[in-house]
Amino acid sequence: MAVGLKHPPLLREGINEVIGTTLFNAAPMGVISRGGRYTLALFKGSHTARNVVRDGWFVANIVHDPLLFVETTFGDLPEDAFVSEQVDGIAMHRLAAADAWAAFSARVIGESGEAYSIELTLLEEKILVDPIHRPVNRGFNAIIEATVHTTRYLRNHDPDLGWLIRHHLVLARKCGGEKEREAAGVIEGLLH
Ligand SMILES: Cc1cc2nc3c(=O)[nH]c(=O)nc-3n(C[C@H](O)[C@H](O)[C@H](O)COP(=O)(O)O)c2cc1C
Repeated sequence: MAVGLKHPPLLREGINEVIGTTLFNAAPMGVISRGGRYTLALFKGSHTARNVVRDGWFVANIVHDPLLFVETTFGDLPEDAFVSEQVDGIAMHRLAAADAWAAFSARVIGESGEAYSIELTLLEEKILVDPIHRPVNRGFNAIIEATVHTTRYLRNHDPDLGWLIRHHLVLARKCGGEKEREAAGVIEGLLH
């Protein structure tokens, strides 16, 4: 039974783009919520996949800092970016910079050549920063799109993807704030 729930569940129906933390590791992940069930498609080869399969836990961090999405996709965070939380008798790591977090136990329920299918069971969640006043911002969303496309572009250099990324970087600079502009610069630097 999940503890600390005095609010609607943090994750909503559909795919929740969060920063997933495992043992001293962070990476953007899409937690799928359908009919009250949480799952994760975890591509093999990542630190997250290795840790989730080995340790059986996963923390979904709700984050609204676009730079953190970019940094955790293409690089690593220092150890002091993590805070340890005792959940269900296990020391789990969440991001110090999280606005809120949801901790899950995780088990492999399927496997293909490329990915694991993971079932997540909610154990505890906590809101650290008041989430109410957060208007939709196309610049932030554009950074998320550009980041996802860039992970693929770096593997295949597909010119159509390159075009899409540049389109989203224009939007990020037009609609975003300083953080989105900075994140756009980091992504642009990776394209050359
Ligand atoms: C918004 C976003 C969502 C992502 N969702 C997933 C996902 O659901 N599953 C996955 O395996 N990789 C996903 N990725 C890719 C990983 O974040 C990426 O491969 C990362 O480098 C893995 O880092 P790690 O080796 O530290 O785990 C996503 C990336 C972004 C930007």
